[in-house]
Amino acid sequence: MTSHGIADGPAVARHRTAMVRYHLSQPMSLLVRTGVIRPGVSVFDYGCGQGDDLRGLTAAGVEASGWDPHFAPDAAITQADIVNLGFVLNVIEDERERSTALERAWALANRALVVSVMIVGAVPVDGLKPFRDGYLTSRGTFQKYYQQNELRGIVAHATGSEPVALAPGIFVAFRKPEDEQEFLLERRRGRRASTAAYASARPRASQLTVPLIERIQAPLEAITAFAIDRGRMPHADELPSGVHDRLAQERVSLSRATDAAKDVIDEVAFRSAAVGRREDLLVHQALNVLNRTRSASRPSASIVRDIRHHFGSQQQFAEQALEYLHALADPSRTAEGMVRSAEKGLGALDEDGRLVIDGERVEQLEGVLRCYYGCAAFFVGELGQDHVARLDPVRRQVSLFRLEDRRSPFPVVTDTVMVDLKRQNVIIRNERRMLVRKADVFGLSNRSRQRGAERDRRAAEGWAKEKVLVRL
Ligand SMILES: C[S@@+](CC[C@H](N)C(=O)[O-])C[C@H]1O[C@@H](n2cnc3c(N)ncnc32)[C@H](O)[C@@H]1O
Repeated sequence: MTSHGIADGPAVARHRTAMVRYHLSQPMSLLVRTGVIRPGVSVFDYGCGQGDDLRGLTAAGVEASGWDPHFAPDAAITQADIVNLGFVLNVIEDERERSTALERAWALANRALVVSVMIVGAVPVDGLKPFRDGYLTSRGTFQKYYQQNELRGIVAHATGSEPVALAPGIFVAFRKPEDEQEFLLERRRGRRASTAAYASARPRASQLTVPLIERIQAPLEAITAFAIDRGRMPHADELPSGVHDRLAQERVSLSRATDAAKDVIDEVAFRSAAVGRREDLLVHQALNVLNRTRSASRPSASIVRDIRHHFGSQQQFAEQALEYLHALADPSRTAEGMVRSAEKGLGALDEDGRLVIDGERVEQLEGVLRCYYGCAAFFVGELGQDHVARLDPVRRQVSLFRLEDRRSPFPVVTDTVMVDLKRQNVIIRNERRMLVRKADVFGLSNRSRQRGAERDRRAAEGWAKEKVLVRL
């Protein structure tokens, strides 16, 4: 049993902090959702607790192992592509030991280290006994609550690289700038990277009637999926090795297969993929500049190809991204963009002219507003899916309101993450509010029953027409 006797206080039972989980932990699931963890990538869980994450990852075909001083003290400590240090630092009462754990975990990470901790404001601390720089709980465990910027600083210090915020209390540090750039670009693309887009772009069976096309159906699907995703045809090294093996088996060259793919690709989907990719790259570049992302000077070979293909040259690309930044610095242009968005049914303007939008629809906003939201994401990372965002370019703030149940006609906000872009500060508040214009915020149809319910309730409660969120 690992209890830690402390000279100036009682024994701390660190292992008691490990919960049994039936789902992946938040950091692991964020990395799976953003494609960092996938089959073929190895994961090491440093301080793995009862090992539930490891079971979940292994079941999905990811090579995963872990070590824990209490639950798996004899397990091998090994290097891996991705290392997770999940909610470990916050249970250690000794500052030096925290640094050691962080440094060891980083030393094991070949590509990236993800660090998560409990964050100030996440849970109430009333009734807990202050101890060192944290609290002792009634179960004899220690908890330190970090500020978002404090965690960023600690991870930056240990890894020597500027980490990327994944969510409140969760940062990922990449070893190679190319990996960080790939990750940032994929994340900034948001929901458009979903596999559903691929599925709809697949050639239908009826289109695959020519014998060659039948023989190389799997390589064709891979090539068309790439094309519909990126708005250009792939280079040889951008396709999985299985594609080359299959083409070699059928004695078909890649250029012949690419020509065949051009015949079956949906032209409209291909063109709109090119438009989408151009905009994704511009938003990405503008955010790189704004956030002073150090890895920006080292884009991956694949991104360089995208830039050349969609913009002609790096210089033209940089100039267009600069234009985005000028627009961002001008509140009247952002305000116009917000009015246009609300008119298109993308969110609601509130009584102060701020745009409130469903977190799931942010990716549909015009580039400048996506950049604005992206600045907030730089400080907090992702909040998960169930939240609404409020953009306030005049005060230079972005607030993210987490929803308890998005299906309810009047969803309740449980807590708010307010990002003050001017002071570069993140404030978390446990204030309950109610979303009273869900129909506008979620873009529901004009004839929806929801609108009627909102009208009735507004009349009964006497809320102003523009009010979007009311305090409870
Ligand atoms: C809150 S649990 C988190 C477990 C798991 N990572 C998760 O997210 O479910 C904290 C774990 O950290 C482990 N731990 C405590 N001190 C540690 C240290 N110095 N190095 C690594 N792990 C440690 C504890 O044994 C405990 O299992």
